Amino acid sequence: MPSLYDATGPRVLFGGDYNPEQWPEETWPDDLRLMKDAGVTSVTLGVFSWARLEPRPGARDFGWLDRLMDLTHQHGIGVVLATPTASPPPWMGARHPETLPRGEDGGVIWYGSRQHFCPSSPVYRRYAAALAGDLAARYGDHPALLMWHINNEYCTFCWCDETARHFRRWLRDRYTTVDALNEAWGTAFWSQRYDDWTEVIPPRRAQYLRNPACTLDFRRFTSDALLECFTAERDIVAARTPHLPVTTNFMPFWTGQDAWRWAEEEDVVSVDLYPDPRDPLGGQYGAMIQDMTRSQARGPWMLMEQAAGPVNWRGVNHPKPRGLNRLWSLQAVARGADAICYFQWRQSRQGAEKFHSAMVGHAGAPGRTFQEVKRIGAELAALGERVAGTHVTADVAILHDWHSWWADGQDGRLSRELDHPTVVRAWHRALWEAGHSTDFAHPERDLSAYRMVVIPHLYLLTDTAVDNLVTYVHDGGTLVSGFLTGVADGDDRVRPGGMDARLRELFGIGTVHEWWPLEAGGTVDCDGPDGAFLGTLWSEELEASTARTVGSYRGGELDGMPAVLRNGRAWYVSTLPEPPALRALLTRTAHQAGARPVLPDPPPGLEAVRRGGLLFLLNHAPGPVTAAVPGHHRDLLTGHRTDGPVRLERHGVAVLRQERP
Ligand code: GAL
Repeated sequence: MPSLYDATGPRVLFGGDYNPEQWPEETWPDDLRLMKDAGVTSVTLGVFSWARLEPRPGARDFGWLDRLMDLTHQHGIGVVLATPTASPPPWMGARHPETLPRGEDGGVIWYGSRQHFCPSSPVYRRYAAALAGDLAARYGDHPALLMWHINNEYCTFCWCDETARHFRRWLRDRYTTVDALNEAWGTAFWSQRYDDWTEVIPPRRAQYLRNPACTLDFRRFTSDALLECFTAERDIVAARTPHLPVTTNFMPFWTGQDAWRWAEEEDVVSVDLYPDPRDPLGGQYGAMIQDMTRSQARGPWMLMEQAAGPVNWRGVNHPKPRGLNRLWSLQAVARGADAICYFQWRQSRQGAEKFHSAMVGHAGAPGRTFQEVKRIGAELAALGERVAGTHVTADVAILHDWHSWWADGQDGRLSRELDHPTVVRAWHRALWEAGHSTDFAHPERDLSAYRMVVIPHLYLLTDTAVDNLVTYVHDGGTLVSGFLTGVADGDDRVRPGGMDARLRELFGIGTVHEWWPLEAGGTVDCDGPDGAFLGTLWSEELEASTARTVGSYRGGELDGMPAVLRNGRAWYVSTLPEPPALRALLTRTAHQAGARPVLPDPPPGLEAVRRGGLLFLLNHAPGPVTAAVPGHHRDLLTGHRTDGPVRLERHGVAVLRQERP
């Protein structure tokens, strides 16, 4: 399998989406010169160029792209060449309306924006495959070509008749008989029994709650249908250039794709990441997405898009204060990225994203944004050789699974306040603030490399996942689980006793009697091994069997009942403790498990990450911080030696190489 490192060598790629069809061709050489000045090593071309490349059905206009590929090569800049299949030209929707997606209520999603394609449409797929094939044939041998970028942020949903036919085929593969489907979906309830496959439709808008097992399967199907689009184009380009890696860029923590499954089909995993510059914990959000992406990649990965300044799709869009772009870029390198790229090179003057920042803003080269970009380019060029291809190791894993998220995000559940990513983020934050490096892992994956595994909340766990967790603890691992975990099986069937029986035995729980979700913003008083704390979001009425109760609810309906249980190396937390309490609890369990933070007692806001032989220090605090770093080091960014405390300004970064212990 070709890797990014094979394609690019020991460097960190630096660049972004370049959409030069917006500008007169005479300006392209100026862009390329400016790119050289900024240390740009790669550009992503063609992401949204379909209408330019195929102005009418079957026509081809490659001349401009030929000249552009040659120009980038003359400047020593590599090309990540995209298939432009995320935005079909208007002629496709006009001539083939069946390629346009339909919403849950049957309404057409029109062209005029982007991503307006039905993934099940054979017509869309045929045109997409033909263009991917012609791009591969034409540019497969071009010396500028570094790798392929298929489509862009696969994220469409469709409920049309073609989708219905495709969904039925997918269900037949999964269940073979309609009786098995009826059994898995529990259609005996509410007279939903299907007599024949032709009666089955996607979960369209309906009078009242829809069958949750059907909506869960529709999520699974949609992820798989989009994946078929990706693999079809991937196979076409890979057949022409088997030595070059292929990727598609994920949206961060996006609900529509089972990214564990998708990552297996990619040579290189890439992600787009846009933390809110106003979020004081934006650095933690970035760290979480980076950990997730690195874990999917099982090694180095690409930051395919970030913003040099503001985005234009939040309610209020703020620029990045001085230094923040650099801090977050180097953070991604620390957490395993071998490419730091932006959307986009030059800020648009027209179109939907003209107020979205770019590497070169409306202010041009003298602008602050470009000057900062230039500094980052220079620093990455200096660091590249030392970091590219190296790994980050973690002794704590956070379990996450899309199928569980899909299953517990449906209608008809106990609380709409329960948002899966929010809970995962709270647990990641606790570990991030405690200074631990974390991987993410799928619950069925071998976990033996980790001293501690945490489950923020996994409502659905398959039998295989349960076996895996039991084995992990029996073999000496420490497992800490949050609330409402192991409730449903792989078909979203609730397990008797409120939790899988083997899991109850593992956690020392007799019965889960009731779930008591909290109101929005509500809290419940608790005490725990580290003192009194507030539980948020959720509480549970459960009875311990062999577990020791190490924290209890205080007051209210659950007064005196267990909130935190410990059964040997297995812990269960039946609420979401407020941040300091969750941090204290996970610090305690990690310590007992032998998992060590990167630096002991990091000051608040300081992130420390080891990648390969380097120690990255990243200051996310609102002011300067000083970190105690044992040993003698050299900061590769400044060339200065340090022996003892390292002071970092606001948004400051140090990349330390040890010289003597
Ligand atoms: C990404 C997308 C880019 C651009 C960017 C703006 O989702 O891939 O094309 O739209 O967002 O933030």
